[in-house]
Amino acid sequence: MSTTVILGAQWGDEGKGKLVDVLAGNSDWVARFQGGNNAGHTVVIGERTIKLHLLPSGITRESCQLILGDGMVIDPWVLDQELERWKDETGEVPDKNRLFISDRAHIILKFHRLVDGLDKKIGTTGRGIGPTYSDKINRVGLRFADIKHIINDNDWISEMTSLYNRILKSLDIDQMISELELKKDLEWIHNRFGHTIKNTGLMLDNALKMKQNVLLEGAQGCLLDIDQGTYPYVTSSVTSRANATHGVGIHPGHIEDVIGIVKAYTTRVGHGPFPCELKDDVGDYLTEKGHEFGTTTGRRRRCGWLDIVVLKHSHRVNGFTSLAITKLDVLGGLETLKVCVGYKANGVEYHNLPASITDLENAEPIYVEMPGFPGLSDQEWLDLARKANKEKAGLSALPINAQKYIQQIEKMLGVPIHSIGVGPDRDATIHIF
Ligand code: GDP
Ligand code: IMO
Ligand code: MG
Repeated sequence: MSTTVILGAQWGDEGKGKLVDVLAGNSDWVARFQGGNNAGHTVVIGERTIKLHLLPSGITRESCQLILGDGMVIDPWVLDQELERWKDETGEVPDKNRLFISDRAHIILKFHRLVDGLDKKIGTTGRGIGPTYSDKINRVGLRFADIKHIINDNDWISEMTSLYNRILKSLDIDQMISELELKKDLEWIHNRFGHTIKNTGLMLDNALKMKQNVLLEGAQGCLLDIDQGTYPYVTSSVTSRANATHGVGIHPGHIEDVIGIVKAYTTRVGHGPFPCELKDDVGDYLTEKGHEFGTTTGRRRRCGWLDIVVLKHSHRVNGFTSLAITKLDVLGGLETLKVCVGYKANGVEYHNLPASITDLENAEPIYVEMPGFPGLSDQEWLDLARKANKEKAGLSALPINAQKYIQQIEKMLGVPIHSIGVGPDRDATIHIF
C-alpha cells in the first residue's frame, strides 16, 4: 500500500501528466485533488498524444480507478466533452465503472465562465476557476452532492439567478442567466453525471485499507499556489502537498512519497513576476525546442533558466521525497547553462523567495554557470532512455555535463532524483534505481 503525491514544483506545465501516466502502471487509483480544467496534462504514447484537462492522467491504464476529488472545481460540460473524446478514441466509457466525481467537488457554471472572461490582470485561463472558488469560499457555491435536492428547489434557483444577474450587471456583462436556463443546466448535470457522484473520500479510504496503491495528481505548481505562490499572480487553490490528501478526503498520514516535478529550466504562462525570464534568443530557443505553448489555452509560455530559489521554496512547502527532472533534452546543444541561486532586489540579496511582488518584479537573478552538453535527436534520446533503463544505468547514461547539471540540482536542494525526462514519450524517462 502506498500513497504517492505528484506535484508541480514551479509555475505549472512541468510534465506532471507524463509521470502520472508512467507511475499509474503500478497504481490502483489516480485522483485529482484541486483545480479544474485550467490544467492541461499531456501524455505521449508512441504516435498518440493525449491532452487531459479534468480526467486524471491515469486514465491511460485501464485497471486504474479515477477520482475527481473534493477540492476540485469541475465544469460538467468540459468533462462531458473530454469523455466523449476519450470514447471516440478508445471506445471506452470510463464513467460507466471507473471514474467517480466527489460529491463535495464544486461545479463551474456559465456564470463563473462569464465572470472569469473579464480578467485582464492575472492572465487566467478563463475557465471560471477563480469565480467558482470565490463562491465556494463565500459559501454560495454549488456542490455535486446538492444537485439532486436543489433541482426542484425553485426558491434556490430563483435566489441564485438573481444573485448571478446582480453580479453580472454590476460587472457590465450584458449576458444574463434565466431561471429556466439554470434549472435546465442543473437537470442536465444530474442526468449526465448523477450516477457517478460518490463519497470518493470513503472509496479511497477503503482502498487504502485494502492496501491498494493511490496516486494523487497535482495540477498547476507551487508558485501558483494561492498561499505560497507569487500572489496575486496565482491560481485560486492550494496546489501543494498539504492539500493533496485534504482535497480527496483522506488524512495526511497516508502520504509516503511526494515527487516534485521539476522542469530542467523554468516556464510560466500568464502574467506575473518571473525573475529568470529570458527575453532573448535563448528564451526563444527554449520555447521553440521545448514546444512551450500552453496545453489549455495555446498561449506561448515564457521561458527562463532554472531557478533554485523557487525550488528551495517549493521544497520547503512540500517536503519532496524525490525530484523528477523533466525536459533535460531541451537544454541539449546550449553551450552554457545557467542556474539562478539568488536574487538582488532594491539593494538586498535574497536566497529565499520574497513574498513581495514588487521585490520579485525587481529581482535580478544571481547565476552560476555550467558547461552545456550536446543535443541529440528525439529518437536518440528515446533510445538512450530505453537502453539506460534496460541496463539500469541511471544517471551514468547521460553525457557527463548533463550528469553534473543534475547532480548540482540534487546537491543544492538536498533531495534525491527520482527520474530524468529526456523526451515527451512515455518511455523517454530515465529511472534512477
Ligand atoms: P503538465 O501540465 O505538468 O502535465 O505539463 P504539460 O503537459 O502541460 O506540459 C509539458 C509538455 O512537455 C508536454 O507537451 C509534454 O508532452 C512535454 N514533456 C514532458 N516531459 C518531457 C521531457 O522530458 N522532454 C520533452 N522534450 N518534453 C516533455
Ligand atoms: P497545469 O496543471 C500553467 C495559470 C494561468 C494564470 C494563473 C491563474 O497544466 O500545470 P486560473 O485560470 O487558474 O485562474 O489562472 O494560473 N495556470 C497555469 N499555468 N499550468 C497550469 O496547469 C495552469 N493553471 C493555471 O495561466 O497565470
Ligand atoms: Mg499543463
